Amino acid sequence: MYYVGVDLGTSAVKLLLMEGTGRIVNIVSKEYPLYFPHPGWSEQRPEDWWSAVKEGLKELTANCDKSKVAGISFGGQMHGLVLLDKDDNVIRPAILWNDGRTQEETEYLNETIGREKLSKYTANIAFTGFTAPKVLWVKNREPENFAKICKLMLPKDYIAYMLTGCFCTDVSDASGMLLFDVEHKCWSREMMEICGVKESQLAAIYESYEVVGTLRPAVAAELGLPEGVKVAAGAGDNAAAAIGTGTVGDGMCNISLGTSGTIFISSKKFGVDRNNALHSFAHADGKYHLMGCMLSAASCNKWWMEDILRTSEFAQEQAAITDDRLGNNHVYFLPYLMGERSPHNDASARGTFIGMTMDSSREDLYQAVLEGVAFAIRDSFEVAKSLGIHIEASKICGGGAKSPLWKKIFANVLNIRLDLIESEEGPGYGGAILAAVACGAYASVEEAAAKLVRVVDSVEPDAAIAARYEERYRKFARIYPTVKELFSQIA
Ligand code: XUL
Repeated sequence: MYYVGVDLGTSAVKLLLMEGTGRIVNIVSKEYPLYFPHPGWSEQRPEDWWSAVKEGLKELTANCDKSKVAGISFGGQMHGLVLLDKDDNVIRPAILWNDGRTQEETEYLNETIGREKLSKYTANIAFTGFTAPKVLWVKNREPENFAKICKLMLPKDYIAYMLTGCFCTDVSDASGMLLFDVEHKCWSREMMEICGVKESQLAAIYESYEVVGTLRPAVAAELGLPEGVKVAAGAGDNAAAAIGTGTVGDGMCNISLGTSGTIFISSKKFGVDRNNALHSFAHADGKYHLMGCMLSAASCNKWWMEDILRTSEFAQEQAAITDDRLGNNHVYFLPYLMGERSPHNDASARGTFIGMTMDSSREDLYQAVLEGVAFAIRDSFEVAKSLGIHIEASKICGGGAKSPLWKKIFANVLNIRLDLIESEEGPGYGGAILAAVACGAYASVEEAAAKLVRVVDSVEPDAAIAARYEERYRKFARIYPTVKELFSQIA
């Protein structure tokens, strides 16, 4: 049988067709536009996602025996606010995970309602990208739209709804809404009241590996797929990526280098970081995880190469950054091109180069961009260490993980071994695994991950390079606190 994983990302949807044995048969990618209507705002049209998913599904399954497609599931960009009216029309463009417009609402939640209460109700505090501050933003700034809301959902759940007609979500993605009681896996009455939301406007909650429904007959006919294809709830893209890299059970780590950059630590038990710098979310394996999320990771690389240098020769540009240069760069880059989430929670933070001299070169600046992203992940890694979590090795996935140089920089900046999986398609592969579990091909997510995910290579840190990076990280860590005050004035 075949299982489809849909990775609904920020730049494109990637669809992956997997056999029950775990073999990837086909991968298709469809791009859609991303809108920045104001500095720091970030929106997409749910209708664009839906068209891209349909086109992608047709292309993905064009040459396979369609009667063997058994299940579909997702890894979806998290936190985005999708609003539907009583006739299922999209009310306004979706406000995305990296949108920074809700500073006032976030401050209201954290300061007036209070971090302690939020953490008690949801296990998390407010960040500008989370869903609840966006609900408040629409309530305050677009009351006419707020009055029309019949269904309030997350990006991948819109696709599940269009495919099946089931208004559903899963525990991992719901965790990032700040409307969800993560420990007890139910909607928080208190948060619904604070945000002016009724339970009828919120989706039914499932574990990620549970079936929510089958294809609507009209959709099945349009796609040429059997009506009996099962759709499983799926997961937020980071939880799905964790499944796709075998990051399940206790104390396993995955780093994802997509548009965002995340460090994900799985845990069998529920736990909260006392300072709420790391998110405490439910995992797609039925358990929990802690996660740090930086807003611009591979997107810093793309910005530097495509928008600044105006080239797409990534490999050629990186070839000039040789091993002897690692840890010896005197230029630093703060990668806060969309503000920053973990651990600073500062929507006003901005991208910054510092330390240049007359001899600074094109290579130094590019290296600083790649290193800045690794240092920013190390900030969250340090928070995890301060909680007593010991991480010896991590998986790594996402577009950024295709670069051998960047992987080497990460292994040395974090001073841990990086284990590489056969495919970097974290969320798509995880989505397909969730579909396979939902269809009964495996007894549990843990069993499926153990059988399907294979480590094929590793990148070990080099003692001398890691020591140089240790010193450089100490300096990097002092830059943000020093310039922090300036950012709110500049923004
Ligand atoms: C996680 C987060 C991002 C998005 C990217 O909290 O906001 O990783 O899920 O798609």
